[in-house]
Amino acid sequence: MAATTELISALLLFLLMCSSNISSSEKTRRPEPCKRLVVYFHDIVYNGKNAQNATSAIVASPAWGNKTTLATPNFFGDVVVFDNPLTLDNNLRSTPVGRAQGFYLYDRKDFFSAWFGFSFVFNSTRLKGAINIAGADDIAKTTRDLSVVGGTGDFFMTRGVATFTTDAVEDDRYFRLRVDVKLYECY
Ligand SMILES: *[C@@H]1O[C@H](CO)[C@@H](O)[C@H](O)[C@H]1NC(C)=O
Ligand SMILES: *[C@@H]1O[C@H](CO)[C@@H](O)[C@H](O)[C@H]1NC(C)=O
Ligand SMILES: *[C@@H]1O[C@H](CO)[C@@H](O)[C@H](O)[C@H]1NC(C)=O
Repeated sequence: MAATTELISALLLFLLMCSSNISSSEKTRRPEPCKRLVVYFHDIVYNGKNAQNATSAIVASPAWGNKTTLATPNFFGDVVVFDNPLTLDNNLRSTPVGRAQGFYLYDRKDFFSAWFGFSFVFNSTRLKGAINIAGADDIAKTTRDLSVVGGTGDFFMTRGVATFTTDAVEDDRYFRLRVDVKLYECY
C-alpha cells in the first residue's frame, strides 16, 4: 500500500515537472500585438546656425563640451531635448501625424549608446492621446527594442515594444528613426 502511494506521488511529481516545463516553453512564445503602427521621427539638432529648423537642442553637455557641438568621444554626457515631427513615411516634409517629445542622453564614453525617455503625442481628429516610451538605444545594432511603458487617450493603459531602426543620418545634425510600435495591451 505504502509503495503504491509512493509510486503515485512520484508520478504526480513527474507530471507536475512536465507541465511546468510546458508552461515555461509557452512563456517564450510571444503574443500577437493588438495594435501596431509604424512612424518616422525626424531630429534636427541645433548647431548654432539652424535655429529656424532645429527640432532639438543640447541642453546639457560635459564640462569639456558645449551646447552647439555634440561632445567627443561618442557624444558622451550630452542631453538633448526634442520636439520632433512624426510622419507616416520617411519624408521630413510629409504632413506630421503627431510629435515625438522628450529627451535622449548619450550614456557611453567608449561606444555610441543613448537612453530615451519620450512620448508620441497625437492630437488629431483621428488619434488623440500619447504613447510613453523609455529605454536604452544601442545605436550600433540594426534594430533596438525600447519599452512602451504606458499610454493615455486612444492608447489608454497600453504596454508594448517600440523597435527603433536608424533610417538616415546626416552629419551630426539630422537623424531619422523608423519606429515600429507593437502594443500588446489595448483597451
Ligand atoms: C531650413 O529648412 C529649409 C527647408 O528645408 C532650408 O531651405 C533652409 O536652408 C534651412 N535653414 C537652415 C538655417 O538650416
Ligand atoms: C563648441 O565645441 C566645438 C568642438 O570643440 C568647437 O568647434 C566650437 O567652436 C565650440 N562652439 C562654441 C560656441 O564654443
Ligand atoms: C489639440 O488640438 C485641439 C484642437 O485643434 C487644440 O485646441 C489643442 O490646443 C491641442 N492640444 C495640444 C496639446 O496641442
